[in-house]
Amino acid sequence: MIFYFTGTGNSKWIAELLSQKLDERLVSINELLKSEIPSYDFDVKEGERIVLVFPVYSWGLPTPIRLFIERLKLTGATEKEVYAVATCGDNAGLMDKMLKKKLEENNLHLASCHTVQMPNCYIVIPGFDVDRDEVADDKIAHAEARVDLIVKAILENRQDKTLYSKGSLPWIKSRLIYPSFIKYTYKTKFYATEACNHCGLCAKLCPMNNITIKDGSPAWSEKCVQCLACINRCPQRAIEYGKITPKKGRYYFKCNG
Ligand SMILES: Cc1cc2nc3c(=O)[nH]c(=O)nc-3n(C[C@H](O)[C@H](O)[C@H](O)COP(=O)(O)O)c2cc1C
Repeated sequence: MIFYFTGTGNSKWIAELLSQKLDERLVSINELLKSEIPSYDFDVKEGERIVLVFPVYSWGLPTPIRLFIERLKLTGATEKEVYAVATCGDNAGLMDKMLKKKLEENNLHLASCHTVQMPNCYIVIPGFDVDRDEVADDKIAHAEARVDLIVKAILENRQDKTLYSKGSLPWIKSRLIYPSFIKYTYKTKFYATEACNHCGLCAKLCPMNNITIKDGSPAWSEKCVQCLACINRCPQRAIEYGKITPKKGRYYFKCNG
């Protein structure tokens, strides 16, 4: 079973590749969250692997993955081994350590954790922007070969350290920066401009049901996890974040629609 969470489509594509190559069924964490059911009960069949696919947020775990692990109830599995594949623009810091700890709280064991570099989608703080087209295309062009190596490592049940990009100063990024990221993510500064044509896609895409349409326009509550699906995927480019994003690019994975 491949459980995936995605904001801008990168992790969905990687999950689809893994599903084909490992012959495992796909389950969308976005849909589980959106359904607002309190417990995620799954029966694991003989020989089925459990693979988690998700983006790295601020060198740590996205809130949706924390919530997913807390709500996950697996039956049938004798070995509760979890394989993780995280997508990131650059690197993941000590995210693997956080994941291991979080899984252990639910009696699950992290068998391996690997990363795949994909185009960056983080645009809501100064100094960060989407990749130039050539850089984004290059990352996508190299991703499948990396997935093949990860599949090999999963099939051989081994952690390949060369397939996990920790980056520089991981302790500072994951232990100092990540906690303040988590503390402030819910405080959104999103708003819709006059370009909004009230299509409602942002509300439909929001995995946290954090966007409601009021008088035809989107309004954000305080459950945001910063997946950035709304701002990056708005077809009218009508969503902004404070004064930070008007001059920034937008990104979402377009290869599979
Ligand atoms: C809130 C947020 C934080 C991010 N933090 C990191 C990071 O710490 N390291 C990194 O390499 N990329 C980071 N990124 C980039 C994403 O991990 C990357 O673009 C990922 O592939 C997006 O996956 P998705 O399209 O499935 O949502 C961040 C993106 C977001 C939205």
